[in-house]
Amino acid sequence: MTLEEFTIQELRNFPKATGQLSGLLRDISLAAKRINVEVNKAGLVHHIIGSTGTTNIQGEEVQKLDEFANAQLINVLRGGINCAGIASEETDDIMPFDDPMSNKAKYVVLFDPLDGSSNIDVNISIGSIFCIMRRVTPLGTPCTEEDFLQDGKAIVAAGYIIYGSSTMMVYATRRGVNGFTLDPSIGEFTLSHPNISQPASGTIYSVNYGNFGSFSGQVQQFIENCQNRHKNNGGPYSLRYTGSLVADIHRNMLKGGIFLYPTTSKAPNGKLRLLYECMPMAFIVERAGGKASNGSKRILDIKATSLHQRSALIIGSEEMMIEYHNEQRVDT
Ligand code: AHG
Ligand code: MN
Ligand code: MN
Ligand code: MN
Repeated sequence: MTLEEFTIQELRNFPKATGQLSGLLRDISLAAKRINVEVNKAGLVHHIIGSTGTTNIQGEEVQKLDEFANAQLINVLRGGINCAGIASEETDDIMPFDDPMSNKAKYVVLFDPLDGSSNIDVNISIGSIFCIMRRVTPLGTPCTEEDFLQDGKAIVAAGYIIYGSSTMMVYATRRGVNGFTLDPSIGEFTLSHPNISQPASGTIYSVNYGNFGSFSGQVQQFIENCQNRHKNNGGPYSLRYTGSLVADIHRNMLKGGIFLYPTTSKAPNGKLRLLYECMPMAFIVERAGGKASNGSKRILDIKATSLHQRSALIIGSEEMMIEYHNEQRVDT
């Protein structure tokens, strides 16, 4: 079943649905296919790899593919009629589309157009992340920042695309998580992973171990436990970390595991972006049965106060998350 057939079937089950959400998923999947074509050519053509020479609002060097992916997502969402406006890791401010059709749309979309930028030039999996929120401002008016600075209750769907050994789109609604693999022979995302559920435990931990020296004592303790104590438990656990959040969380969601990006001395508020990375991934993982926190608070209970706000992120299999938080309590 293709993504489109799947969303139509969902619509049949919900006769009151307006189809705006399905329309958005269709628009996003079109951008994903366009990004995928370029990702596949990286290494062959020079206009795709490398830096643009500019710096984004995050203080990061913008890669050509960051810019390309951002433009593709903005174009499909602006061209469609289901999105009132967007916010992106790569744009300084929100972008209300502000035309009569867009102003009537119920939803705004937030995204990390290209996740894992540092892996583009070395042919390691990268991704795109999106989050669809129900707006709070009156329909018929342009969206405002208030529509984006919300907590997880506003999320109606979130997903990611992973450009990996195959290209997949995984998206979650309150009804569950489904994965679609791009079938290159027909150019369509096809249902390959129905009703994804994250194993309650696992033997993988994912963390930038190079930062170990600047982690808190509690985080260091948890990591040492992954290396030592779990020897009696089928361990030591395996450390797996690509530097692409999408790839690391995708693997852990399918196999069971935990991902940690705690605060560090270099990133005292965490490195990852609350609205474009932490909240959408938290929504997906929770819908699959896992958990996500910033170390002390559930990610989906945090109300963003600024667009590019950072957060620590601890996310993964339920029992491993419980263990992480228990160890925190013991230590403090
Ligand atoms: P982005 O490419 O969108 O800026 O995100 C990079 C993020 C995330 O994908 C990854 O988990 C993390 O940065 C890696 O950071 P370190 O290199 O500090 O480990
Ligand atoms: Mn970036
Ligand atoms: Mn990212
Ligand atoms: Mn990015």
